[in-house]
Amino acid sequence: MNLFGIPMDNEGIVTDTIGRLKKQHNGALLYTIPAFHNPTGILMSSQRRTELLNVCQIERLPIIEDDVYGDLWFEGSPPIPLKAMDNQGLVLYVGSMSKTLGPGLRIGWVIGPEPVIDRLSDIKMQTDYGASSLSLYAVAEYLSSGLYDQHLKKIRGELKFRRDFTVAILHKYFKDIATWNKPDGGFYIWLSINKQISMRGLFEKALKAGILLNPGNVYDRNDQQHLRLSYSYASLQQIENVLIRLAEIIQDLTS
Ligand SMILES: Cc1ncc(COP(=O)(O)O)c(C=O)c1O
Repeated sequence: MNLFGIPMDNEGIVTDTIGRLKKQHNGALLYTIPAFHNPTGILMSSQRRTELLNVCQIERLPIIEDDVYGDLWFEGSPPIPLKAMDNQGLVLYVGSMSKTLGPGLRIGWVIGPEPVIDRLSDIKMQTDYGASSLSLYAVAEYLSSGLYDQHLKKIRGELKFRRDFTVAILHKYFKDIATWNKPDGGFYIWLSINKQISMRGLFEKALKAGILLNPGNVYDRNDQQHLRLSYSYASLQQIENVLIRLAEIIQDLTS
């Protein structure tokens, strides 16, 4: 697979580059995370979704819509998925229990045209004989009993609290050294460091302090400016301690 990136702004993928990039790289498929994008946290606007679908229809470019964070909104639900606007069978929609219930279940799903699903089912069968029946029964029970909806309500509240907590710490310790977004859902804050810095140097110094960073060059090999912060898993105390130490390290390296 040859991957190449598409520019994004704060409304999602910039659609007017798609036709040119498709030709230039002989692109076969467009992969997108419209809701609370990993790593930037960006939520694709409703207008951009319509534009994206139009462009891909004109270009005959199939889309994989990865919506694993779509249920994890804080204030209001995201615009409807691309798949819900697709009347040409152009979109393969992917969802998962990994970000809401737990990745250990290994349960996800795909919605798409039947011939594609038939082929994917065949590949899944040949690859791993299908998902664990026990996990599937547990998830089916969770969904049908209403427990999943209750659980979603709870984790939306918890994640929103953690986002606010993390943003408050950033305001206190990072306002002179970085800028960031305030995501409306999902797990991630995309931190942009103001001054030029050696990411390798930062990574190593942080590691010595017991902090494993997730730098932007994991996603774009030329990126030298960003860190992905996740507020979903670490304890509040860990988030606070790590961010305070990280701010000191960045200050040392840039002063
Ligand atoms: C956008 C997106 N899709 C899919 C996944 C994969 O989840 P899993 O590794 O549990 O299959 C992730 C995990 O980070 C993700 O961020």
